[in-house]
Amino acid sequence: SQSVTVPQIMRRKGLQPIVALTAYNALMAGLVDPYADIILVGDSLAMVEHGMASTLEATLDLMILHGRSVMRSARQALVVVDLPFGSYEENPEQAFRSASRVLRETGCTAVKLEGGVAMRETIAFLTQRGVPVMAHIGLTPQSVMTLGGFKTQGRDRAAWSAIEADAVAVAEAGAFAVVLEGIVEPLAARITENIAIPTIGIGASARCDGQILVLEDMLGLTDRAPKFVRRFGALGDAAREAVRQYAEAVGARSFPADQETYLPKK
Ligand code: KIV
Ligand code: NA
Repeated sequence: SQSVTVPQIMRRKGLQPIVALTAYNALMAGLVDPYADIILVGDSLAMVEHGMASTLEATLDLMILHGRSVMRSARQALVVVDLPFGSYEENPEQAFRSASRVLRETGCTAVKLEGGVAMRETIAFLTQRGVPVMAHIGLTPQSVMTLGGFKTQGRDRAAWSAIEADAVAVAEAGAFAVVLEGIVEPLAARITENIAIPTIGIGASARCDGQILVLEDMLGLTDRAPKFVRRFGALGDAAREAVRQYAEAVGARSFPADQETYLPKK
């Protein structure tokens, strides 16, 4: 169980940047945990880990399976699990049923859900009943159909007031933090200055209270990534080269060598 708490995250606003990353399983969570304040089991796992076409295909059972895996190696970071599409939007009661399953069956600390003003009542319902909620506004991938693609939000200033209203709504409803995804810098700065809870940016500039990236993107494991991703590693290239060398060694019978081979007692 994790030592970072929800109040500790909230107190970081305006002080020290919050370090967040995704992880989908025990192996990757073990790598991330010593350095992260928050580990998110994001529904992006549908695309990154399972090759699905969008996050809409993630199910509650799938998120719980991955949440349990991550929890086996999270010692320090606060673990948040995404509520998937279709598991919370009907009404607050449905959201509570789904969130309580996630908390009980994984042992994680909080859930994340997408939506601003439309989720105000649901966020209040959950937080008043012991479920810490991280909100997610701006480019919300579960709404990719209505948004018409993965498009940066707020390029047109006319759209700012609606996104600002979303930020105010989730903060007032009791969310402990909010992910700002795919929004222009001055809007991210305004929101961060005007709400009392930490903003965690992804494609939302350095003017947020923290940052999150999809781990496989920043490690350089995924083939393509948006402009906002910095490749801190080149693990995809390293993995391809290792596999190529293995195939070559097997083909040449140079693997396994003597030191990799068991022999009977003399
Ligand atoms: O699913 C996910 O990985 C996310 C983050 C990118 C914020 O929601
Ligand atoms: Na997500």
